[in-house]
Amino acid sequence: MKIKNKVAIITGASSGLGKSLALELAGRGAGVCLLARSEPKLKKIKKEIENSGGKSIICPLDIRNSEEVKVAIKTIHNFFSKIDILINCAGVYTQGSFTDHSTDQINHLIDTNLKGTLFFTHAVLPYMQKLNFGHIVNIISTAGKLPKRNQTLYSTTKFALHGFHQNLQRELKPTRIKTTAIYPSKMNTALYKNAKVKKKMKNYLDPEDVARLIADCIDQPQNLIVDDLTIKRN
Ligand SMILES: NC(=O)c1ccc[n+]([C@@H]2O[C@H](COP(=O)([O-])OP(=O)(O)OC[C@H]3O[C@@H](n4cnc5c(N)ncnc54)[C@H](OP(=O)(O)O)[C@@H]3O)[C@@H](O)[C@H]2O)c1
Repeated sequence: MKIKNKVAIITGASSGLGKSLALELAGRGAGVCLLARSEPKLKKIKKEIENSGGKSIICPLDIRNSEEVKVAIKTIHNFFSKIDILINCAGVYTQGSFTDHSTDQINHLIDTNLKGTLFFTHAVLPYMQKLNFGHIVNIISTAGKLPKRNQTLYSTTKFALHGFHQNLQRELKPTRIKTTAIYPSKMNTALYKNAKVKKKMKNYLDPEDVARLIADCIDQPQNLIVDDLTIKRN
């Protein structure tokens, strides 16, 4: 679909890749709905978008709460009367051996990375199905395709998303609703710092480059689809 004049929901829009996606899609003429927990950060990005002539609204919420997700999607739909694009980007990281993690951490990773994406897709899809039109983009990770050392818990949530994406893609094949899975390798964002993990970030991908490639995947005629895309540094 052409991104111009479309309505896009982006989770995890307060920082990193989600923020870059919000700026990229708004720059291409979409109305963007910015979702994450941090209201001050979302307000700042909304201002940045508006200063460049773009349109956006913010919806502070916790994606682990299915009721908050339902209310946000209803509010966005009431405001715009349609939802064209959903980008499931919000996520958290952890590393260490599996048994080093508490059961609270296991719940936190599954609730955010897996259930957050399921809740959003579940709430948005009926609106797309009514118009038989839309595009759902799931930000996964190369850790969703290959096991990684010291990342059993994180990688497991990403493998689950990989499975969700592949099954949903099959389910939606007869419709005009597209799905795309993105598998980026390491990016230079706050993901690791938020998880209190020190990384050198040398040769990591720039989230702005990744966002541009993702926007290109969406910005295609209806007869073309990028099923999945792995992005690595050359
Ligand atoms: N960085 C990498 O190397 C890398 C590589 C491959 C894939 N990824 C994936 O890319 C996606 C984006 O990550 P990033 O690298 O851009 O990290 P980031 O800068 O830390 O961004 C994560 C985003 O998720 C939001 N978020 C986290 N928990 C949330 C919750 N409970 N409710 C609502 N929003 C929540 C955060 O906002 P608030 O804190 O304001 O809620 C933030 O906007 C993630 O799915 C990550 O797994 C990252």
